[in-house]
Amino acid sequence: MQNIFNDYVQGLETYVMFRIKETVSRITPELTAKNRAPISLSMGAPTQAPPKYVTEALKRALDEDNINTYSTPKGEKFFREACALRMKNRFGVELNPDTEIHSLIGSKEGLANIIRILLNPSVNESEKEIIMIPDPGYASYKEMIKVSGGIAYSIPLIADDNYMPDMEKVMANLEKDGFNPKKVKALLINYPNNPLGATATLEYLASVVSFCKKHGILLISDAAYSDLYFKDELKPASIFQVEGAKDVAVEFFSFSKPYAMTGWRLGWICGNSDAVKMFGKLKSTLDSGIFKALQKAGAEVLNSKEGDEYITKANIGFRKNQQIFAQGLKELGWQNFNVPDATFYFWLPIPPRYKSSVEFTDDLMHKSGVIVVPGDAFGKYGEGFFRVSIVCSEEKLREAIQRMKDDGFYFN
Ligand SMILES: Cc1ncc(COP(=O)(O)O)c(C=O)c1O
Repeated sequence: MQNIFNDYVQGLETYVMFRIKETVSRITPELTAKNRAPISLSMGAPTQAPPKYVTEALKRALDEDNINTYSTPKGEKFFREACALRMKNRFGVELNPDTEIHSLIGSKEGLANIIRILLNPSVNESEKEIIMIPDPGYASYKEMIKVSGGIAYSIPLIADDNYMPDMEKVMANLEKDGFNPKKVKALLINYPNNPLGATATLEYLASVVSFCKKHGILLISDAAYSDLYFKDELKPASIFQVEGAKDVAVEFFSFSKPYAMTGWRLGWICGNSDAVKMFGKLKSTLDSGIFKALQKAGAEVLNSKEGDEYITKANIGFRKNQQIFAQGLKELGWQNFNVPDATFYFWLPIPPRYKSSVEFTDDLMHKSGVIVVPGDAFGKYGEGFFRVSIVCSEEKLREAIQRMKDDGFYFN
């Protein structure tokens, strides 16, 4: 066949997590034969069962009248009302379920589509519009922007400023790098951050809102990990706790991480009504919404006592896993690392004898069957690091550490 495929898609690599999954399934027999069956510390997908409350609600919903027909992309009113109530209960913020909330088939879908409503695609580099993204950051952001014909400008997240960069300085650097600030359409932030686990203060969020107002750009806040935290005093905030944020911001929420419901594909976007309306227009032509039974069960768990208890218990489990893994790392000679206050990730330097993140993660995978993610997948500032997800059982985590010891994966 002649080359009929879109240039952007041709340049795209399969998403890193699926790439890893493919490799792992190819080498599983070989690893199993040498007593190193894969232990996945790569996916950010909690492995415990979702709340029983939600699976029971789903079973009940399946028998309701009229449940099997099309929903709407916007989401059923009861679903949007439940999201609004969750925002009120969890963050103390008011959102109008009719104009300021829209359902998502998982936040990954939503993020891809918010980018599409902003960027006018161009093949000409100088014409391309820009979205600023955290680096290291969720691996999909960059590619989503690229396939939508835009430029993803990396905002370096560094320890010196506690991973809360001064955005005016970033904008000045963007100009120094030869980009036109007028081409910037949006700033994307993600706190708590994947892969760093970094959190932001309310003061910082307020400064980011002011920055976006000043530059007339959309603020996209990805709050997928807002319920995964370990200290009450560092409970992640919603961007809408900042006065006036609705003028410029939308925020993304997901059922995936807090309730171990990654396969359900359920989430919501909320905030600025113009952006939500435009987003709804695009989605009305792209999809036909979420299965109503999933919305029913999701709506029930969001504001339930059972849902909140589940989150508390899950966080206690992740905290325990964090401590086990941190202890193991110390025994393996890692000294320079953070134990994050939020998320279920560790972001770690590779041992100095390796030349690249991929060289290290490949070696660990092939020798020990321990699967982690190379840091360069999270952006250009991720080289030299790797990400570990500690969502597996305590037992598996201990085994991963033991294998690293047995197979000589010491830091030095
Ligand atoms: C920062 C961040 N945002 C969004 C997502 C997508 O989550 P989902 O599409 O399951 O809601 C992920 C998944 O890993 C993530 O890490």
